[in-house]
Amino acid sequence: MTLKVPRLTIGTRSVLFGAHQFAIHPWFVAAAWWRLYGFPWDPRLWFAFVVHDLGYVGKPNMDGPEGETHPEWAARLLGRLFGPEWHDLCLLHSRFYARRLGRPFSRLCVADKLAIALTPWWLYLPMVRLTGEVAEYRQGLRGRTRARAASKGWEHVEEESDREWHRRVQNYCRRWAIEHHDGREDTWTPLAVAAVPADARAGADG
Ligand SMILES: [Fe+2]
Ligand SMILES: [Fe+2]
Repeated sequence: MTLKVPRLTIGTRSVLFGAHQFAIHPWFVAAAWWRLYGFPWDPRLWFAFVVHDLGYVGKPNMDGPEGETHPEWAARLLGRLFGPEWHDLCLLHSRFYARRLGRPFSRLCVADKLAIALTPWWLYLPMVRLTGEVAEYRQGLRGRTRARAASKGWEHVEEESDREWHRRVQNYCRRWAIEHHDGREDTWTPLAVAAVPADARAGADG
């Protein structure tokens, strides 16, 4: 008799032991919120920090059409529990999803981006390697030829190490969060996921 071990999807792996690890990622989001908007006294915020990415469970990709809808699960939950304002806080925590919906990103989105910049590489990189997420997150440029990358004005970074890539993503996310912490219009985030340069996307960059 052979024992069949069910294969976890990349979204589930991310929540269990990857970039969106359910007991680690929320702390960095909370720390980021504290820096940006003051201490999060409202317990509903802490609830949002914990559940906002749980919608990745069962998703077959992180940045594809399925993964992109990951905010919906927590949004429904918070909407039912606390009302529409909390629904939107979670639903619009992904700048890509918010842009696709034609709606402004939420404060949780800004904290979520700064959280990436606050998560140390020695914690982040082993986790995304373990889950296999790193391959998907870095695909943004790997899938392109040098010529195509150059034609888009993107630096060709095929040979850069995971450490260098991660540092670049962190810098981008920090700059994005500082620039947009007051909720100003997001002109940095492209509409089509397929056309997104690698440093514009990141693990936990919902
Ligand atoms: Fe997140
Ligand atoms: Fe997310």
